[in-house]
Amino acid sequence: MGSGIAQVSANAGFPTTVREVDQATLDRGLGRIRKFLDDGVAKGKVQAEDRDRTLANLKGTTDLSDLAPCDLIVEAVVENIEAKREVFQKLDRITAATAVLASNTSSLSITEIAATASRPERVLGLHFFNPVPLMKLVEIIRALPTGDGAFETAKGFVEKIGKTAVVAKDTPGFVVNRLLVPYLLDAVRIYESGVASKEDIDNGMKLGCGYPMGPLTLLDFVGLDTTYFIANIMFEEFRQPQYAAPPLLKRMVLAGYLGRKSGRGFYDYSKS
Ligand code: 3HC
Repeated sequence: MGSGIAQVSANAGFPTTVREVDQATLDRGLGRIRKFLDDGVAKGKVQAEDRDRTLANLKGTTDLSDLAPCDLIVEAVVENIEAKREVFQKLDRITAATAVLASNTSSLSITEIAATASRPERVLGLHFFNPVPLMKLVEIIRALPTGDGAFETAKGFVEKIGKTAVVAKDTPGFVVNRLLVPYLLDAVRIYESGVASKEDIDNGMKLGCGYPMGPLTLLDFVGLDTTYFIANIMFEEFRQPQYAAPPLLKRMVLAGYLGRKSGRGFYDYSKS
């Protein structure tokens, strides 16, 4: 998701620095942006000069310290509280006191992340949706300590990148995943119990409800591991059965069937 967030930021005219953990991952992320823009030009959806301007606004680094001069930082590391706290502690030390620190978490507590910062009032959530350049929504999450200044900066940023904001309280899943995750988990349960084939489950929701993707295709798209992590965090908080990860989902994650990114999930992507 990081590459998508960087792309929409650069596209809106903001000089944008992307930090990745190593050069290979950075090259892959920047390559993904380049491919999306090239495809957009080929489809007539993106002007060649907009592509060039977007790419010119992007800078890559593997050094977190290069984010020191930034006014707004959007963290999109793995959905794990320790990993996020570590990044926020470092960002808190190296950035200006006025910089806004946002997390793209989909389920972890923004308040818990903010607690690692010396100025928690500048911390909030900016939750994007996959694929970021195409999905029009960003959820803005106000944690208990989030200040009005940080909130207004984030709201202005969301408007400038051409997205619509939905403001939500700091509770696991916010609005969209609170509704979406139980639906995705139920689709796995229905498949697991043999009610219908995966194709029929997907076609049921596509053709019967007009969803752009069926739930099992969407799970492959979002990542089975990501959904599994989110479900566990939501179950931990709410203790309600609709958030409990079905055994099949857990086994698929353990087997490395993570969806599109690993070449196999509910469907096989090894040849695409
Ligand atoms: N550059 C510019 N525009 C592009 C483009 C590119 N490289 N590629 C595609 N587009 C445009 C297309 O031209 C099209 O525009 P149009 O509607 O004006 O004609 C539009 O984007 C859709 O593209 P396609 O027609 O090629 O693709 P599809 O129609 O198959 O749509 C999809 C793809 C947008 C991914 C659609 O299937 C979809 O909306 N799926 C559901 C995605 C979803 O639910 N995401 C949320 C997941 S949950 C999440 O992220 C939260 C996390 O916390 C888990």
